[in-house]
Amino acid sequence: MLFGSSVGKKVLMATTGLILVMFVIVHLIGNSSVFVGPDGINAYAAKLHSLGPVVWLFRLVMLGVFLVHIWLGIKLTLENKMARPVEYAQKKNLRTSYAAQIMIYTGIVLLIFVIYHLFHFTVRVTNPDISNLVDAAGRMDVYSMVVLSFQKFFIALTYVIAMVFLLLHLSHGIGSMFQSSGLNNARTLPTIETVGKWIAIVLMVGYVSIPISILVGIVKL
Ligand code: HEM
Repeated sequence: MLFGSSVGKKVLMATTGLILVMFVIVHLIGNSSVFVGPDGINAYAAKLHSLGPVVWLFRLVMLGVFLVHIWLGIKLTLENKMARPVEYAQKKNLRTSYAAQIMIYTGIVLLIFVIYHLFHFTVRVTNPDISNLVDAAGRMDVYSMVVLSFQKFFIALTYVIAMVFLLLHLSHGIGSMFQSSGLNNARTLPTIETVGKWIAIVLMVGYVSIPISILVGIVKL
């Protein structure tokens, strides 16, 4: 069976990774509407919530993709370890970057972040006092929830640290998607790795700009 083989698993890992990266890009574009003010992000959230069952279908698909990605990540890491049970006496990681070696750890931190993030902004149980407000137009006040959250230093810091892990995970992950799916060769490898790193940097800077702009008072109520 294709997906039982190591190549199949890598292709599936790359495909689920690509879908997750696309989500992260679209989510950042949506979140950037916080810079427009309450009418930006509250209108955007109201539009999303009005899609009803479509949102739930999307959430289910994304959950499936996320779980498959995590399961394969753990499996491939264990398989790699079993293929080399005794550590080399002298470890030389010629082409393997630091980000590549720590993929499983950066992935675990991101998983913990996503669980916290869902409790924070989607289920809204971590800060209930500021999470169920309604704006003047009768919409869920996502703007106030986000601003009041990131005005708290430790919440902003948690997000900034998580985004550094996102940078580490994606700076290797995007390039390796092409490697795993065979859409790469020795000539294109350096370019793809560089482009992957830059996409990861742009995403991190974009995401981090939200809690930082709020913490320093550029975006406020
Ligand atoms: C500064 C960074 C971020 C901010 C301000 C932010 C903001 C939000 C908000 C406001 C929601 C709730 C949307 C709503 O119910 O209307 C949300 C949901 C979500 N966020 Fe984020 N987010 C950030 C980073 C991330 C990152 C890096 C990821 C993934 C690695 C992520 C994954 C999700 C997911 C999976 C949901 C649930 C989507 C749904 O309800 O269907 N977020 N985010």
